[in-house]
Amino acid sequence: MSAVDIDLRGVHDFTANPYPTYAKLRSEGPVHTIRTDDAERIWLIVGYEEGRAALADLRLSKDWRTSDLWTGDGDPINANMLEMDAPHHTRLRKLVAREFTARRIESLRPRVQQITDELLDAMVPAGRGDLVDALAFPLPMTVICELIGVPDLDRDRFRLLSNGIVAPTSSDTGGEAVRAMGAYLVELIEDKRCAPGDDLMSALIRVRDEEGDGLSPDELVGMAFLLLVAGHETTVNLISNGVRALLAHPGQLAALRADLGLIDGAVEEMLRYDGPVETATFRFAREPVEIGNRTIPAGEAILVALAGGDRDPARYPDPDHFDISRDAQGHLAFGHGMHFCMGAPLARMEGRIAIRTLLERCPDLALDPAGAELDWLPGMLIRGVRQLPVRW
Ligand code: HEM
Repeated sequence: MSAVDIDLRGVHDFTANPYPTYAKLRSEGPVHTIRTDDAERIWLIVGYEEGRAALADLRLSKDWRTSDLWTGDGDPINANMLEMDAPHHTRLRKLVAREFTARRIESLRPRVQQITDELLDAMVPAGRGDLVDALAFPLPMTVICELIGVPDLDRDRFRLLSNGIVAPTSSDTGGEAVRAMGAYLVELIEDKRCAPGDDLMSALIRVRDEEGDGLSPDELVGMAFLLLVAGHETTVNLISNGVRALLAHPGQLAALRADLGLIDGAVEEMLRYDGPVETATFRFAREPVEIGNRTIPAGEAILVALAGGDRDPARYPDPDHFDISRDAQGHLAFGHGMHFCMGAPLARMEGRIAIRTLLERCPDLALDPAGAELDWLPGMLIRGVRQLPVRW
């Protein structure tokens, strides 16, 4: 295999701030090869237009079995729509998409506000603390657990396993977390099967599609995994990255405080400027594919750097400038094409309610100078910090 353009193994600064590296690569071209701790060679797309096109390119597969990285060891949690192509993807997505429409999600608004209020009631008297622990994690976790119908989920254990999968410290720990998560979800589904309720998980256990097919045991595990993990890991970091961006830009914070009606646009800019998903999940070339004047051989793995595209000056003028009044529409933070985030309406609603209510309740919110140094989640998938020490 040929040499790579850039070796990212053990480059610590890259995790804390990958943007200068993406900018440098982008100035040389939209498509590069990188080496990471997990793979000898991965193609990385850093340009906006090329990245957006790749996300919708049907010559790129989401199915690991088509890739050079496939080891033959599938795991039940891999049986999820984000790791499938049509028609399997279409069938699975259709089964749950109606639960996530903008209208359906809008009906959850009073409950999302209530959970936010209760979390802030508990947080505010302390005067200082970790915003991730107090608000950014428990809000989306509570919402998705209620929506799916697993309110008693052991959240600490789930958070540990989930973090271990989306941001593993090594490929060994990642593999262990995948297996432990699979076993945990099998138990959870069994409990639900014995005591069904009026909730999404019970409906998925019962569901039959138009052909009369239900979800296989692996597909049930894969679906529970995807909804629970995608439903919280990302929104946590929308809230914490968004608040971090505001606190680092006092002028923007003041503008938002002066008119909280700007919150919708501000959240879009937070998603563009420092979104929770740094690179989309792997895609694999089904055939030799030419992108940005480079030919990606069949079977090779491709990452679209959403964080690279969203800072592309060809798409967003002065892209490193955080500006809540800019038109950030079209950002790639939720992906694009048939795998476009199914939870986008829910994530947007949670982000808007959480940040708006936080600003209303904490007029003196600031980073806590006595807080520990920021501890970044490792890896290139999720961008965020484990704790965000703040005072108010
Ligand atoms: C700010 C929060 C969120 C962000 C930034 C985000 C981002 C993304 C991105 C980038 C993708 C596509 C990945 C790819 O193509 O490789 C995706 C897919 C997905 N997201 Fe989200 N997500 C968020 C919240 C949620 C929530 C709350 C849910 C709720 C369950 C959710 C469920 C999903 C599902 C099911 C998919 C797979 C869709 C498919 O394969 O068709 N996400 N998300």
